[in-house]
Amino acid sequence: MATNRTFTMLKPDSLEKGNTGAILEKISAAGFKIVAMKQTQMTLRDAKAFYAIHNERPFFGELVEYMTRGPIVAAILEKENAVEDFRTLIGATNPKEAADGTIRKLFADSISENAVHGSDSDENAAIEGTFHFSGREIF
Ligand code: RTP
Ligand code: MG
Repeated sequence: MATNRTFTMLKPDSLEKGNTGAILEKISAAGFKIVAMKQTQMTLRDAKAFYAIHNERPFFGELVEYMTRGPIVAAILEKENAVEDFRTLIGATNPKEAADGTIRKLFADSISENAVHGSDSDENAAIEGTFHFSGREIF
């Protein structure tokens, strides 16, 4: 397995609840190296573009409202098998279905407000990382 990268966001509910440090601790303890990170807030235009793949879904309006209502922490993470291992670490989209010990099980309230994002492929990890970071912000 090659060392590679994934992209994550700690979503607004995580920051509102003061869970930033605890979630970053879990990410670090699982062996991910942070190669880029910042606190930022997405505009409506940003969120609509970032989640464009879901724009026909019934929850799209609720999703962009949620993702823009406060700051997020965006990060690029490096580890062997990063995309798959990070999806395992965060758990199922619906925290009620997420495995014990996963970030969503520990920190998320609902399928809509589920604490963290994780890229679903190497290709999307690269696109999403570039969406949030310039080359000079990635180490
Ligand atoms: P993400 O992209 O944020 O890592 O989440 P995911 O892959 O586990 O789930 P995805 O299907 O890509 O959905 C993106 C985000 O939309 C919200 N959602 N709400 N109300 C609903 O039924 C519903 N379904 C999805 C969640 O915030 C989900 O993470
Ligand atoms: Mg997704």
